[in-house]
Amino acid sequence: MVNLRITSMPTLTLLFMILTCTLVLIIPEVSATRYIVGGSNGWNSNGKVNYTDWAKEHKFYLDDWLFFVYDRNQNNVLEVNKTNYDLCNADHPVHNWTTGAGRDVVPLNVTRPYYFISGNGFCYGGMKLALFVSKPPPPPTSSPSKNGSPLESGCRIVTRAAFALAAVWALIFQVW
Ligand SMILES: *[C@@H]1O[C@H](CO)[C@@H](O)[C@H](O)[C@H]1NC(C)=O
Ligand SMILES: *[C@@H]1O[C@H](CO)[C@@H](O)[C@H](O)[C@H]1NC(C)=O
Ligand SMILES: *[C@@H]1O[C@H](CO)[C@@H](O)[C@H](O)[C@H]1NC(C)=O
Ligand SMILES: *[C@@H]1O[C@H](CO)[C@@H](O)[C@H](O)[C@H]1NC(C)=O
Repeated sequence: MVNLRITSMPTLTLLFMILTCTLVLIIPEVSATRYIVGGSNGWNSNGKVNYTDWAKEHKFYLDDWLFFVYDRNQNNVLEVNKTNYDLCNADHPVHNWTTGAGRDVVPLNVTRPYYFISGNGFCYGGMKLALFVSKPPPPPTSSPSKNGSPLESGCRIVTRAAFALAAVWALIFQVW
């Protein structure tokens, strides 16, 4: 009985720590944003969205996503270089993101400029999107600093809380 109590308390503490710290570590990935290009109008040739202006309204960070929603019978999603973006030249796409469903997801997984156009001449009507993907403002989780990382201090607080909880739990257990 006594043995069980003593061994189960550290086990519980460890469980708390693992669970909470896993959650803390997950948060930066969850905060990646998925943008529907053009908002409620989507990727559309009706001229309601100026995609240059739309891009200016947002700040794109590494590991965000673009979601192109469009009429698959008319439009597509071609990633091009700057020259072909300016010229609306769809003949040499860097990447053809078109899957055929009219719903294409593009991961913004490199910090660089991205250029997208729709083929079939719709680029000339304004279906062109240029944006820059930058590093997210908080320091990335991959920098294991000694003391300062908000993630680490957060995890430390959480660990303390877990210990406190476990202590309270042990107390209740004892009283009971
Ligand atoms: C874009 O690609 C074309 C070939 O399709 C090439 O002629 C042009 O120099 C490239 N522009 C840039 C900025 O890389
Ligand atoms: C892009 O890919 C789609 C689907 O595979 C294909 O139907 C289309 O012809 C391609 N377009 C270009 C310009 O390569
Ligand atoms: C970015 O995503 C594309 C498409 O999924 C993939 O081909 C490429 O390898 C990825 N690049 C990096 C740096 O992860
Ligand atoms: C979109 O707006 C910009 C100014 O923000 C303008 O220079 C550009 O010509 C507009 N594009 C279209 C297709 O109307």
